[in-house]
Amino acid sequence: MKIAVLPGDGIGTEIVAEAVKVLNALDLKFEMETALVGGAAYDAHGHPLPEATLNLAKASDAILFGAVGDWKYDTLDRPLRPEQAILGLRKNLGLFANFRPAICYKELVNASSLKPELIAGLDILIIRELTGDIYFGQPRGRRVSPDGAFAGAEEAFDTMRYTRPEIERIARVAFEAARKRSKRVTSVDKANVLETFQFWKDIVTEVHKDYPDVALDHMYVDNAAMQLVKEPKRFDVVVTGNMFGDILSDEASMLTGSIGMLPSASLNASNQGLYEPSHGSAPDIAGKGVANPLATILSAAMMLRFSLNQEAAAVRIEDAVKKVLALGLRTGDIYSEGTTQVGTAQMGDAVVKALSAQH
Ligand code: IPM
Ligand code: MG
Repeated sequence: MKIAVLPGDGIGTEIVAEAVKVLNALDLKFEMETALVGGAAYDAHGHPLPEATLNLAKASDAILFGAVGDWKYDTLDRPLRPEQAILGLRKNLGLFANFRPAICYKELVNASSLKPELIAGLDILIIRELTGDIYFGQPRGRRVSPDGAFAGAEEAFDTMRYTRPEIERIARVAFEAARKRSKRVTSVDKANVLETFQFWKDIVTEVHKDYPDVALDHMYVDNAAMQLVKEPKRFDVVVTGNMFGDILSDEASMLTGSIGMLPSASLNASNQGLYEPSHGSAPDIAGKGVANPLATILSAAMMLRFSLNQEAAAVRIEDAVKKVLALGLRTGDIYSEGTTQVGTAQMGDAVVKALSAQH
C-alpha cells in the first residue's frame, strides 16, 4: 500500500502529521513518501506541482493531501498559483468523483449556527464532479503582471462545458452510492438558464433509467443553497457539477458546526484516490498548533476504505474519533463550554490512544 503524502501549505503540514501518526498506529504496513506541493513546492522548485510530485502521486495507490494556498501567492500568474497543484493532480490522475460527506456528530450539535433540531442526525453526501465544468473550460484573458494588468484586454471569460461521458459516469457514481444509503439522489443544476446544465439534467435523467430502485429529483442550484439551510435533512445524496459542488459543499460543511471535521475523497475510474480535508490551508492559524486534525484523520479513514480496501481499519479510526469527541476533547473551532480545549498534536495523540484502547 503505497501512499504519497503531500502536506502542502499553511496548516497542511500540521494536520497531515497527525493523520500519519494515526495511520502508523494501525497494525498495517504502508510505504509512505512525502513530497512538496503548492506554495511550498513553488518556493523550493518554482512550480506548485513539480514533475517529481506528480510522478510520485501517479505511482501511488492513494494520496494523502493537506491543503494548498496562501495570500502571499495571490499576485503570481495563474499557472504558478498553489491552487493549480490540486487542480493539476485532479486532472492528471482523472480524479473525477469527489465525495464530500457532511455529517453532524451528535456531540457537536451545538457547534452549528443552525438550530440543533435542524441538524441533529444530519448525514448528507455531496458528490461533486471534479474534472470538468467551467473549472476546465477555455479561459480567455489572463492577468499577466503582479499589478493586475490584463495587458489591455477589454474582457475575460471562462467557458462552461460538459461532455456526455463525463455526466454519465458521475451520475452512475451517485446512483451507486445512493444504493448503499437511503436510495435518494438530488441532482443540482441551473437548467433554467444554462444550456450546459439542461444537458446535465437530461443525461442524469437518462442514466436514472438503469436505477429504478433509486429516487431522483432535480433542483436548481439557488434553491438547493436555500434548502440546505432551511431543511438540510431533506437531502441524502446530492450530485452536481464542479462549480456548484465547490460552493454547496462549503455551505453543507458548515451546517455541521465546523469545516474542520469534514473529510473528502476524490476518486478515478480505478479507485486510485486523493484524500484531503474539505477545508483549506488557513494561513491565519498556521504554525500555531491549534488546527483541527480530525478532517484529515477522517480522510485517512476514507483512504483506507476506498483505495486500500481496509474497511475494518477505516471503521476503527472513525470509532476512535467518536470516542475522543465523547471524551469532550475539542480543538478551538469546535470548542464549547464544558469541553476540554486541546491543540493539534494533543488531538492526534488522543485518537491514537483511543485506537490502542480498542484492543
Ligand atoms: C476545493 C477548493 C479548490 C476548488 C481550490 C483550492 C482550487 O476550494 O477543493 O473545494 O475550488 O476546487
Ligand atoms: Mg472549495
